[in-house]
Amino acid sequence: MKTGKWIVVAVGVGIVLMIGCGKEKGGSSGKIDEQAMIVDEILIQQAADSAIAWYSSELKAALQAAITEGGPVNAIGVCNEIAPEIAAAHSIEGWYLERVTDKSRNANNQVDSTQAEILARFAVADSAPSFIGEWELIGSDTVYHFYRPIRVGALCLNCHGGKEQLAPDVAAKIAELYPDDMATGYRVGDLRGIVAVDVAWSKGKAHAEALVAGKH
Ligand code: HEC
Repeated sequence: MKTGKWIVVAVGVGIVLMIGCGKEKGGSSGKIDEQAMIVDEILIQQAADSAIAWYSSELKAALQAAITEGGPVNAIGVCNEIAPEIAAAHSIEGWYLERVTDKSRNANNQVDSTQAEILARFAVADSAPSFIGEWELIGSDTVYHFYRPIRVGALCLNCHGGKEQLAPDVAAKIAELYPDDMATGYRVGDLRGIVAVDVAWSKGKAHAEALVAGKH
């Protein structure tokens, strides 16, 4: 059961501390060890960035290879099957990673209400943060949420650009696989969605340390 967000520690580059709400972790298990949480948070942020970098580079490599092999239409199938597999491969040992958006191609990737608020914060022109990190107490479990924005590059336009930019075979394949597709009409630089990383703490600590040490 959600008891709501109880602490917001970092927004953007650098750390903005808003600790001091005086709530107790888990209700009865004593005061929050603020110092330990800051140390944990820095570890999680570094580890999450490492996980996101691996996830993105694996995804882009798969996409690029499929395009080279058989053009964008071939890569649609790759995205369809490989993208969820790559995300699942990074969702281990208390870690969960996903790509979500407000205009989804695959409805499984649609933002929930919390993620929609995060997306809106990244959409603010000029003063959007580069990342958002928040602790949340869910029942007696502590979870850290870490988000990075996903922006559109030129490669993406093959499949997410305006309808007139999509090759006919690409448009047809997308329509066949995703009849409710909303993920077109983007331009370079647009906010496409977010990578959302949830880390159960301290269950996810061993994996965080491995990520920071360069293991995946
Ligand atoms: C070859 C076509 C193709 C290209 C190029 C492509 N995508 Fe996609 N994209 C897809 C497909 C297909 C899906 C649906 C995947 C699924 O079923 O999970 C998707 C899904 C996504 C999602 C998940 C949200 C949703 O709408 O379901 C994001 C985020 C995304 N793409 C971003 C990008 C970005 C950023 C780029 C450029 C780096 C890019 N895509 C390039 C075909 C493509």
